[in-house]
Amino acid sequence: MAGDDRDSTTEHPGDRYRPTDVSADRPALDRILILGAKGQLGSALVNQEWPVGTFVLPATRDQLDITDHGAVRTYIQRWRPKVVINAAASTSVDGAEAQPDVANRVNHRAVVSIAEAAAAVDARLIHLSTDYVFDGAASGWYREHDQVNPLGAYGRSKRAGELAALQLDDALVLRTSWLYSSTGSNFVRTIRKLGRSRPVLQVVDDQRGCPTAADDLAAAIVVAIRAGLRHNGLFHVAAPDDATWCEFADEILRLDGTRDRVELDRITTGQYPLAARRPADSRISSDAFAAAYGHTLPPWRESLRRVSRQLDRTDSPPPPVRIGVGIEFGGTGAVTRTAGPLVDR
Ligand SMILES: NC(=O)c1ccc[n+]([C@@H]2O[C@H](COP(=O)([O-])OP(=O)(O)OC[C@H]3O[C@@H](n4cnc5c(N)ncnc54)[C@H](OP(=O)(O)O)[C@@H]3O)[C@@H](O)[C@H]2O)c1
Repeated sequence: MAGDDRDSTTEHPGDRYRPTDVSADRPALDRILILGAKGQLGSALVNQEWPVGTFVLPATRDQLDITDHGAVRTYIQRWRPKVVINAAASTSVDGAEAQPDVANRVNHRAVVSIAEAAAAVDARLIHLSTDYVFDGAASGWYREHDQVNPLGAYGRSKRAGELAALQLDDALVLRTSWLYSSTGSNFVRTIRKLGRSRPVLQVVDDQRGCPTAADDLAAAIVVAIRAGLRHNGLFHVAAPDDATWCEFADEILRLDGTRDRVELDRITTGQYPLAARRPADSRISSDAFAAAYGHTLPPWRESLRRVSRQLDRTDSPPPPVRIGVGIEFGGTGAVTRTAGPLVDR
């Protein structure tokens, strides 16, 4: 079985991603398990150019529910990956306020199980976290060891997950920010859809962050793995520049050719109350990751151009827009609404 030393008759989820050429140098970290493989980051990881000889095992929620402690242990024991990337998460920021238990089960307790199972087979763990562990009250860019103070249940559950992963001496915990991609449900796809159908969009203009393309983050993870994960601990990995949700929407519409037709109404967070509070300024600096791994993500406008072009080619309709409630994108909670009724995805 190319890229793997298991019985080639054994069916497993990574089959269609298996590289064929294993004659070249085989990297030490060659068997990679991706949890949450259907999410924005998970899909982007699966689609990366992996080093020759890498054996990628994508596990979707259907294949492995990470909240099932025994299943996690058995799965990891069975496939004995060298690296486990936990891209699975419960990413609904407002949902977490209503159901903090769900957020805690997926974002915290499951990470305890994954860390234990990874340690049992000597696998390295890469775990993802969020800028929403900060309260946004600092003036300036957050660094890794700045004081955390999550404002909501989602951020608290993710912070607990960070600490669980960091129980392993050599885990790599990557905080990212405002993820989007050409698949899944996210701010970019929703704004494009609304921009094509509504004359006025009200978008929050007093929350600032680093819009990050999931495939840029995935590429950074591959860089770290190629480097043998030689630096571990906590790092920020996000776009190197920032925007407000409204600035982000402005550029999304411009690239989609609808900016001239849509009136963008800049509103404040206070004008649009939601279940969860969000940090006003959650810009995270990725300088430490750049110093450690020699890799910086592209500026967000450049990546957005690329994702926009992908969407031009492939756009399938995002989830239906419902009338009547708040809106939340990609789990981090960009907030927007039309001039008419509020919208939600
Ligand atoms: N999205 C953002 O804006 C953002 C911002 C900062 C940080 N992050 C962090 O970045 C990471 C990746 O986020 P993302 O945007 O790629 O998330 P996403 O698109 O929401 O994907 C998360 C994936 O996790 C899966 N999942 C949920 N519960 C699960 C369970 N019990 N067992 C197994 N899989 C489960 C989901 O499965 P289904 O497809 O079946 O639902 C989904 O495929 C997460 O750690 C997130 O907290 C995200």
